[in-house]
Amino acid sequence: MSSRDIDLEELNVSVVAPIADEHERRAEVSLRPSSLADFVGQRELVRHLEIVLGSAKARNQTSDHLLFAGPPGLGKTSLASIVAVEMGSGLRITSGPVLSRPGDLAALLTDLQDGDVLFIDEIHRLSRAVEEVLYPAMEERRLDVMIGRGPSARSIRLDLPNFTLVGATTRTGLVAAPLRDRFGFIGQLDLYDVDELAVIAQRSANLLGVDLRPDAATTIALRSRGTPRIANRLLRRVRDFAAVQGRDFVDQALAIEALELFGVDKYGLDKIDRRILNLLCGQFAHQPIGLTTLAHACGEEPATIEDAYEPYLLREGLLIRTPRGRVGTDKAFAHLGITPRGGGLF
Ligand SMILES: Nc1ncnc2c1ncn2[C@@H]1O[C@H](COP(=O)(O)OP(=O)(O)OP(=O)(O)O)[C@@H](O)[C@H]1O
Ligand SMILES: [Mg+2]
Repeated sequence: MSSRDIDLEELNVSVVAPIADEHERRAEVSLRPSSLADFVGQRELVRHLEIVLGSAKARNQTSDHLLFAGPPGLGKTSLASIVAVEMGSGLRITSGPVLSRPGDLAALLTDLQDGDVLFIDEIHRLSRAVEEVLYPAMEERRLDVMIGRGPSARSIRLDLPNFTLVGATTRTGLVAAPLRDRFGFIGQLDLYDVDELAVIAQRSANLLGVDLRPDAATTIALRSRGTPRIANRLLRRVRDFAAVQGRDFVDQALAIEALELFGVDKYGLDKIDRRILNLLCGQFAHQPIGLTTLAHACGEEPATIEDAYEPYLLREGLLIRTPRGRVGTDKAFAHLGITPRGGGLF
C-alpha cells in the first residue's frame, strides 16, 4: 500500500485534541511513567516532589496536598499516580465535573482508607458548594454533615482518615484562591524541550516494540508541540505508517513522510493551529483579535484555545498577546508564506 492509497482528509487529525476514545486512553495508560525516576523532564518540579514525598515518608506521615497545573498532556495525571506509587498508598480518582453535589464528595471522602491519595482532575471545575466541603477536609481531615432540615437541623462532625489530595488543573488562575491556598505544594508543568521529548518518544517506542532510530525520535520531538501526549500520538501514527509500508524500523525519512501525510508540519502545527494563524495573518491581519472572536472563528471553546493551543504558539513566537487582543507575528506570516503589509508589526 502506498501513501497515496490513504485518504488524506481522514488522516488529517487534530494532534492537540483531547483523548479521542477508550482505545487511545488505554494506549496512554500503557505508556505512562510509573515512578519519578521514569518521569522525563520537569527537573525542578521532580526534585521538589522528591523532597516533599521523601520527607513525608521519613516522618511516616501522608504528604501535604499537592496541586499540579499546566497545559493538557504534560503529565499531571501521570504524576498523581506516581505520587501514590511513591508513597505506597491507594489511589482514588475523580474529577471536578463528576462531583456535582456535596454528597458525592462526602461519600468519596468517608470511603477513603488511611494514607490514600485522592486525585481530583479538573479541580477548577468544582462547584462552590462542593469546594466548601473540601476545605475542612483538607485542613483538619474533618467532614461536617447536616442532619435534618429547618430549625431541628444540626451538624455532626466526622473524622476522616489521613489522606493526600492531589489536584490537577490546566490553569492555576482558574482555581479559587481559598482552595489554592490549602495546597502545601503547587507544581507548574511547562512545555518540554526537544531533547526531553526525544527521550520520551524513544522510551515509548521501546515499550511498543518499535525500532525508532535517534534522528526519527528527534523528528517526532520537533513536531510534538512541547507535549508528551502528542509525541506518543505521533509515534503511534508513524508506527502505523511503517507497518503499512512493511518497514521494520523507523528512520528520519520515514518519520517525516508519515508526519507530512498526517498533516503535521515542521512546527507540529495541526489544523486548528493553522486556522488560528491564518485568521491572525489573513482575515484579521494587522489588527488585534479578541479570544472569544478567535475561538468562534475556529469553532472551538475559548478555554481550549487558551489552554491547549496558545501556550505553544506563544512559546514559538508565532502569536503574541496584547492588551487589545491576539496578534500574529512576522514569524507566523513567514511560516504561512504571507507577506505582512508595511513590513510587519512584530
Ligand atoms: N514526563 C513524562 N515522561 C514520560 N511520559 C510522559 C511524561 N509526561 C506525560 N507523559 C505521557 O503523556 C501522556 C499524557 O500524560 P497525562 O495524561 O499525565 O497528561 P495530563 O497533564 O494529565 O493531561 P490532561 O490535562 O489532558 O489531563 C501519558 O500517557 C504519558 O505516557
Ligand atoms: Mg490528566
